Amino acid sequence: MTTQTHTTSSFETVPQLDLSAQYAAIGAEIRTAVDRVLASQQFILGREGAAFESEVAQLCGVAHGVGVASGTDALILALRACGVQSGDDVIIPPFTFVATASAVNAVGAKPRFADIRPDTYNLDPSDLARRVTPKTKAIIAVHLYGLSADMDPILNFARSHNLRVIEDNAQAIGATYKGRPTGSLGDVACLSFYPTKNLGAYGDAGMVVTNSAELAARLRTLRNHGQTAKYVSSEPGWNSRLDEIQAAILRVKLRHLPEWQRARQERAYSYAKLLLGIPGVAPPLVPENYQHVFHQYTIRVEQRDALQQSLSEQNIGSAVYYPVPLHLQPLYSSLGHKYGDFPHAEHAANEVISLPMYPELRSDQIARVAEAVAAFVTK
Ligand SMILES: Cc1ncc(COP(=O)(O)O)c(C=O)c1O
Repeated sequence: MTTQTHTTSSFETVPQLDLSAQYAAIGAEIRTAVDRVLASQQFILGREGAAFESEVAQLCGVAHGVGVASGTDALILALRACGVQSGDDVIIPPFTFVATASAVNAVGAKPRFADIRPDTYNLDPSDLARRVTPKTKAIIAVHLYGLSADMDPILNFARSHNLRVIEDNAQAIGATYKGRPTGSLGDVACLSFYPTKNLGAYGDAGMVVTNSAELAARLRTLRNHGQTAKYVSSEPGWNSRLDEIQAAILRVKLRHLPEWQRARQERAYSYAKLLLGIPGVAPPLVPENYQHVFHQYTIRVEQRDALQQSLSEQNIGSAVYYPVPLHLQPLYSSLGHKYGDFPHAEHAANEVISLPMYPELRSDQIARVAEAVAAFVTK
């Protein structure tokens, strides 16, 4: 990390995320890119979108990228392209953003939850066997907080049960698993470029990436009203296109992503040095041979709500992703789950807290946050 002389006063706010620091650094490049689109007067399915699709596909180590309107649409269209339909079941973790599950509902299928591992917060491959049913068509593996799920056993299980695997890679662009990029591990992978993501648009945007030419062709059709040729539709589709202005902005940001990723990893390393060994604090685990991209820096503490309150009183931002596991959401009450059904997801929901994390976070700010956490748990 670069040497900094700045020192935070205890009154200075340390936000959980500061997008304005990023815009201050790259604003001029962004405005040039937007001007280029405005001058072209081509706003939908043009050169920027096509170039961005191939750049993201390359980063993910796959052949095809299909730009869509959001990460949620990416999941819905991926499920459709994989043939998931009404009456099918899809296995997902209960500890994720609600979009992973609501996308399953959107194609008429039913989410079937499998618990997470308590150390990585990702799908536990050993819980799949008791959750699979004759109706199960697919598994969505979420790479939560920027860390890949343990994909090899998930893929083996899927192969032996003839299931499709969709990666929800909304939070982990750039991460790797045993040397392979997330996005290249399942049949298809879904990306979100929601503004707060590691690669964030200035609005909504998303993408599906895949090695399958057949799935990519189907996705291109589905995102554009099911059209296989101009004004010829072969099936019901959507308007879910990634627009040229967002694509041009994202192409600028994509060039900075490797340096931002390194900055996030350095900041995670600084936090870990300060927090490891403090009783009652569990910093994020990075399993051997994984590259974590730290979309969030999420620790675990027993008195989570009181810690969050204490941080807030010291002007330190934090966030809880996610306080209510999906099986206990009112939305899923009809599935008949109760507290105790997915204990690891429930404990995580009670104990996780995400500390400030962004590439521009300064070392004195990290020290102040870590000190506040340590003081709270040792008091
Ligand atoms: C894990 C996960 N899945 C899906 C989504 C949905 O993406 P979007 O907000 O772009 O629709 C998000 C982000 O919001 C997410 O974090």
